[in-house]
Amino acid sequence: MSEPLRIRVCPQGPLLVHGEFVLVDEDGTETVPQRSSVALCRCGRSTIQPLCDGNHKVGRPPIEPGEPLECPRLVG
Ligand code: FES
Repeated sequence: MSEPLRIRVCPQGPLLVHGEFVLVDEDGTETVPQRSSVALCRCGRSTIQPLCDGNHKVGRPPIEPGEPLECPRLVG
């Protein structure tokens, strides 16, 4: 049995997807990512939607004490 797809929520950042999956865009075009992990934007600020380009760091609210500063950069 294969490993289940893992999705990690980054505080104030993207969804990190680890594992094999097919990405289907709004036109129905299917893409199989060539990386073992990708970061999907969930803030709407990325210029390379649906992937994260790091723009979630612009204009976000201050980091709370003890909160991780950022997630690993997997795209770009
Ligand atoms: S989550 Fe939107 S740019 Fe990173």
